[in-house]
Amino acid sequence: MSAFEIAEMETSEFVQWQSFLELKTGMWLPEARKSFLLASLNRHMREMGIENYQNFYSMLNTGRVSSLDWSKIVDSLTVHETCFYRDETSLKLVSNYCRNKVQKGFRHESENAQQIHLWSVGCSTGEESYSLAIEMDKLSFSLSGSHGQKFYYGVTGIDVSYPSLAIAREGIYDNKKLETISQTTKNHYFEPLDNGFLQVKEFVRDRTCFIQGNILELENKNESSYDVIYCQNVMIYFRQEKKEAILKSLIKKLKPRGLLVLGHGELGNFETHDLIKVDNKNCLAFIKNENYKTDTKEKFSKQIKFSSESKYNKQNKYNKQKNLSRMELS
Ligand SMILES: C[S@@+](CC[C@H](N)C(=O)[O-])C[C@H]1O[C@@H](n2cnc3c(N)ncnc32)[C@H](O)[C@@H]1O
Repeated sequence: MSAFEIAEMETSEFVQWQSFLELKTGMWLPEARKSFLLASLNRHMREMGIENYQNFYSMLNTGRVSSLDWSKIVDSLTVHETCFYRDETSLKLVSNYCRNKVQKGFRHESENAQQIHLWSVGCSTGEESYSLAIEMDKLSFSLSGSHGQKFYYGVTGIDVSYPSLAIAREGIYDNKKLETISQTTKNHYFEPLDNGFLQVKEFVRDRTCFIQGNILELENKNESSYDVIYCQNVMIYFRQEKKEAILKSLIKKLKPRGLLVLGHGELGNFETHDLIKVDNKNCLAFIKNENYKTDTKEKFSKQIKFSSESKYNKQNKYNKQKNLSRMELS
């Protein structure tokens, strides 16, 4: 076999790697991604002079690789694919939600500046966070005529991958990466650099920050809470019980009546009273129920399926919630 040939892997061995990776990273590697795993393992094995999967496995399993190598390996097994304006419909939903929230704030507390804090979870190389920031800047511009009232926004991106975050912080992208952005937006929000690349302008970067973190360990991360949590194409890499745990911590970080946006079909078969589904067939989004109580750990697991309420009560409550979420987003 040549040095660049990728060796086959027995099914039993693949299952061993699947369990190992889930234990160490939380991510579940489906069978469909086996070739991705093999290509990545082979690249590391060549670099580290390791002869076969079993030797590599026992090295990792017994902690005989440095933490730097380990983080490189995990990073190469993670999908970082992203782009600007990846889901325009969801971005529009966020924008409408924020517009309504800010305008309501202007009406009720006219002397106070309005603030919106958005969280881009699994932000990868930053395109999603900057798309949100650009939408917020456009919103701020369109609201600026309202009697001098101020609107401030901030976007925080979080990702487990250090190399992705380094790219996100610089905000420098190949022109090809900006194909999904209109020319007017490109001109307004990006600075052409000498090397043909473009950089997100400073006034947008100033409103955006990036932090390293694992969404499976959010409980210990920071105390902030957010008006909007945007988490797309991340939960697909986790099995149902992990998704539910992630969702639970995202809900905790959301302000009352805050907006949670997920990717289509990312949640699986899951329901909770803590979230009210937004009535929009093109987006998977929820408003946090204002009756949510943080101290009800047990309650969460009990609520996964709607419990023993009478049919009448359920329907009544559902209609009321649906109307509320419509008002928020119309
Ligand atoms: C496919 S990208 C999605 C990027 C962006 N959200 C989008 O939709 O375009 C998934 C990102 O989730 C990050 N990720 C995976 N597991 C994570 C974890 N446990 N904690 C934080 N980020 C994670 C990966 O590093 C990767 O950058």
